[in-house]
Amino acid sequence: MIKNVSGNYARTYAAAQADPAKFWGDIAKGIDWIKPWERVIDDSRKPFYRWFAGGVLNTCYNCVDRHVKNGRADQLAIVYDSPLAQTVRKITYRELQELTAQYGGALRDLGVKKGDTVIIYMPMVPEAIVAMLACARIGAVHSVVFGGFAAPELAKRVVDAKPKAVLSASCGLLPGRAVPYKALLDEALRIAGAEKTPCMILQRKQLKAELIAGRDVDWDEAVAKAKPVDCVPVAATDPLYIIYTSGTTGKPKGVVRDNGGHAVALRWSMEAVYDTHPGDVYWAASDIGWVVGHSYIVYGPLLQGCTTIVYEGKPVGTPDAGAFWRVCQAHGVNALFTAPTAFRAIKKEDPNGELVRKYDMSKFRCLYLAGERSVPDDITYAKKILGVPVVDNWWQTELGWPALSNCMGIEPLPVKPGSATKPVPGFTIEMFDEDGQPKAAGEVGNLVIKLPMPPGTLYTLWHNEKGYEETYLSRYPGYYLSGDAGYFDQDGYGSVMTRIDDIINVAGHRLSTGQMEQILAAHPAVAEGAVVGAADPLKGQVPIGLVVLKSGVKKSEAEICQELVASVRAQIGAVAAFKDVKVVKRLPKTRSGKVLRVTIRTMADGTQIKVPATIEDDTVLPEITAALKALGYPRVGG
Ligand code: COA
Ligand code: AMP
Repeated sequence: MIKNVSGNYARTYAAAQADPAKFWGDIAKGIDWIKPWERVIDDSRKPFYRWFAGGVLNTCYNCVDRHVKNGRADQLAIVYDSPLAQTVRKITYRELQELTAQYGGALRDLGVKKGDTVIIYMPMVPEAIVAMLACARIGAVHSVVFGGFAAPELAKRVVDAKPKAVLSASCGLLPGRAVPYKALLDEALRIAGAEKTPCMILQRKQLKAELIAGRDVDWDEAVAKAKPVDCVPVAATDPLYIIYTSGTTGKPKGVVRDNGGHAVALRWSMEAVYDTHPGDVYWAASDIGWVVGHSYIVYGPLLQGCTTIVYEGKPVGTPDAGAFWRVCQAHGVNALFTAPTAFRAIKKEDPNGELVRKYDMSKFRCLYLAGERSVPDDITYAKKILGVPVVDNWWQTELGWPALSNCMGIEPLPVKPGSATKPVPGFTIEMFDEDGQPKAAGEVGNLVIKLPMPPGTLYTLWHNEKGYEETYLSRYPGYYLSGDAGYFDQDGYGSVMTRIDDIINVAGHRLSTGQMEQILAAHPAVAEGAVVGAADPLKGQVPIGLVVLKSGVKKSEAEICQELVASVRAQIGAVAAFKDVKVVKRLPKTRSGKVLRVTIRTMADGTQIKVPATIEDDTVLPEITAALKALGYPRVGG
């Protein structure tokens, strides 16, 4: 365990900078290896670096079996709490070992072998976590797809990952409705031309699915008749999982994580960043479809021998804004990780924190917020109602674990609301100008990370090393381009302010406005369109669309707008939250014909102060202001 003493952050950070191989080599001893690594950092193919080359381990063994062996067999590994299914289920480490062995056997029976890919399209049920671990157990590479995505998005992931099998459920549960996952899956496999892919389906009593004879197998039956399997040795550098994330095009990027570096970094992050230790109860209120779910519902807590909470519910409405505190009391939660938007939803309903006072929160030590920017008010509200430290941390799907944070297990530093604090040891972060020069304190620049990045970060895009290099490594040689912009203050505290591309962040969900524009442009009545992310008091950002129609279109504007909203929902999914679109006569453009999206965005946010000099014709702006006003923007004070 790290000693939490004054000056320790600076010392730890300096140690990681001075000799990364020694630093990470020491930390790697926290993992059980079948064969130790030959080189901590393999830099023989710069700019592509690999961690713990030559090492052999099994991630499932490290998450499960070793805890059974080391005296944690009867400790709870997973607590599933679903206000939507009105169920609580508790699984010990011993039971989890049996389950992963059994599920691993069922995967083998489906024909899945080491190195094969498996898509997991599942709601927040414990079977989904066991399935991920079972893949790791047999050396298969899982790709979990968020349930809120529509069939065409799932289909893109099927096409790219080419799964040997798909694991899914009959339905997911949302307040007041069941989402028919199986129907969406069938449609996705049809779109992908992969109808023959074997599927294992968990039948949930809330909405059963029809199974396709000869292709689909019933989950419970398949697991019951499977023979348990042991953990197979895999190379540290073998892939553990692929997670798709929005890029600037409609094609999602398959971020790949390895086994060795991931296990080392994730376990260490639990103690160093989250001050969470074996036996603690850790709850990441997210979804396994997102990176937060991968890292801090599944792998981080289990690698560290904690109890992880799997929550199938919302922060509000299931049944009220005290839902989080009920779960904390019921299961003795020590640390909670969620997105700021969840707290904004709670604040709306319980501004004075009256509900939290109804529950015993004596075991609760710290709240961690990430996934989107925390504005100072998010932090102060959470701190006021909880009375514990509130820690903002910045990272992204690609990185897998925090890069900027207050490292609570190393040395808690004074909090500055609005800042994610300092670089985590192992990450060298700069804010660069266009020429690759560091910006002065207080000035916003492109957030870059010096190579090699620490273990646990992505090492490529699935079957697309060229895309990895072009997207992330080519802009500033020797550095990873994050796609975010931010600044360091005089004390070295980092704040991440905005994206430099067309990615927006809606309730902690990462989406591409470019992709939405492509969908709008595909409508037969639309000549052109622009989608921007506008500030929203609850979700942080929401997408809004402005479209110009082709001449001679007969349909009413209202009908076309309805069709556009339906089309984004059908193509991307409800999670895109695309509800606001308006027809305009023209879009603001530069003299060279580029749509001035930033101008539209700042107008929607109410922060537009001056008209860009490059604008072709500024008489277009009053109409844009009127269209935005009709949609109800700005929603946040400028
Ligand atoms: N399957 C299918 N649809 C889903 C889904 C799932 N797993 N999860 C969400 N959706 C749907 C919702 O029902 C909603 O549809 P609607 O427009 O028909 O109502 C839409 O996708 C948007 O969902 P969401 O972003 O969850 O918004 P919301 O308005 O339902 O709830 C919050 C708002 C703030 C309560 C919610 O975003 C939340 O709990 N956030 C917590 C943070 C979080 O999980 N972040 C993830 C990254 S850490
Ligand atoms: P995702 O890959 O879905 O986790 O989204 C990552 C993106 O969310 C980052 O690139 C940022 O734009 C944003 N983000 C995540 N955490 C923070 C934070 N603490 N502060 C500011 N932005 C954040």
